[in-house]
Amino acid sequence: MEIIENASLKSLNTFGVNATAKYLSHIRNLQDIEALFEWKSNNDLPNLILGGGSNLLFKQNYEGLVAKVDLLGKDIANEDEEAVYVSAAGGENWHDFVMWTIQQGFAGLENLSLIPGCVGAAPIQNIGAYGVELSNTFHTLQTVNLENGDVQEFSKEHCQFGYRESFFKSQTLDKLLITSVTFRLPKKPEWHVNYAGLREALAGEILSAEVISKAVISERSSKLPDPTILGNAGSFFKNPVLPVVEWEVLKANHENLPGFPQAHSEEVKTSAGWLIDQAGWKGYRAGDAGVSDKHALVIVNHANATGAELWQIAEEIMKSVEDKFGIRLEPEPRVIS
Ligand code: FAD
Ligand code: EPU
Repeated sequence: MEIIENASLKSLNTFGVNATAKYLSHIRNLQDIEALFEWKSNNDLPNLILGGGSNLLFKQNYEGLVAKVDLLGKDIANEDEEAVYVSAAGGENWHDFVMWTIQQGFAGLENLSLIPGCVGAAPIQNIGAYGVELSNTFHTLQTVNLENGDVQEFSKEHCQFGYRESFFKSQTLDKLLITSVTFRLPKKPEWHVNYAGLREALAGEILSAEVISKAVISERSSKLPDPTILGNAGSFFKNPVLPVVEWEVLKANHENLPGFPQAHSEEVKTSAGWLIDQAGWKGYRAGDAGVSDKHALVIVNHANATGAELWQIAEEIMKSVEDKFGIRLEPEPRVIS
């Protein structure tokens, strides 16, 4: 395992923040994982597991070792009467993996097309889009424990998936490295096309994984800034989930407040983008840090904003939304400080 000292992380995070890592290594195979384990037992510094850097904000330089997961490989692991089981290594690009499953004639991941990042990070926040979450088709994942070298397999129940949540997001961060993930893709697909925008785009179409994927890609491209052109990490805040009673009180004062009743709970999800938009932040800019003029939920780096400058906008947004609506927004990306 090669270790690079004082490495720039600018090209390794989609905000394009020019932070540095005291040490950086690329994890490409089992030997590299063993070397990382060895390094950890001989050093008293923290480590950070990095995928595509699309859900992270480096508020400052990282004074430890950043382990960039570059484990590659994907295959059809198994098949039974009802489903195929496909696996991918943690460093595989998520969107390329989705495209590969569609090319193989499999359905189930099409609504999750074009989400940036790597396969190994996808379970961390149970990625979701257009009415589907990773948990819908998740089967198992494999981890290596960087503190004791143990290899473990997790079933869906063990992962404790929720809205942008899993067991791994808080409990085992930077200790368990997800080496591969397996999905169960049903042979009789169930299409999810009721999300506003998608439904209209697909009206009258003969549905297939390919057709839905194309519509999702087109919708996403029209709504979200492309991080290769304008630095961002997608939605910067989670959508607040409120008890029905609380939501009704707010709705009485703000008649256009969006609300999506949650299945199996007395709660309503509302739209952080709407709250931020109403608070007047869309298109805001302070130096190179700002808020997208396409989507109020996306904080953007116009060129050379620092992580601290981007975080300052996030804090100002949180304060202003709390003052106006009494709702405390929760950041979605991991803030490294
Ligand atoms: P990173 O940002 O590198 O890491 C995220 C977290 O996972 C960190 O805590 C990291 O330590 C950990 N991690 C990474 N790899 C591993 C591993 N192998 N083992 C253990 N821990 C690991 N998210 C959605 O859910 N839905 C969307 O629609 C969506 N749209 C987006 C659109 C844009 C334009 C952008 C920039 C982001 C979007 N995101 C979305 C957020 C992001 O793409 C996902 O959260 C993605 O899964 C992050 O993957 P990553 O590899 O970039 O993770
Ligand atoms: N809205 C505004 N102003 C804006 C943007 C949005 O008022 O500037 C309102 C509109 O009412 C709109 C509603 O917000 O109808 C919802 O917007 P959108 O459909 O874009 O979805 P979102 O709730 O903002 C969520 C996810 C996205 C995911 C999309 C599609 C979260 C935090 N975000 O966004 O995920 O791609 O739905 O399913 O749940 C991400 O997690 O990084 C991400 C991009």
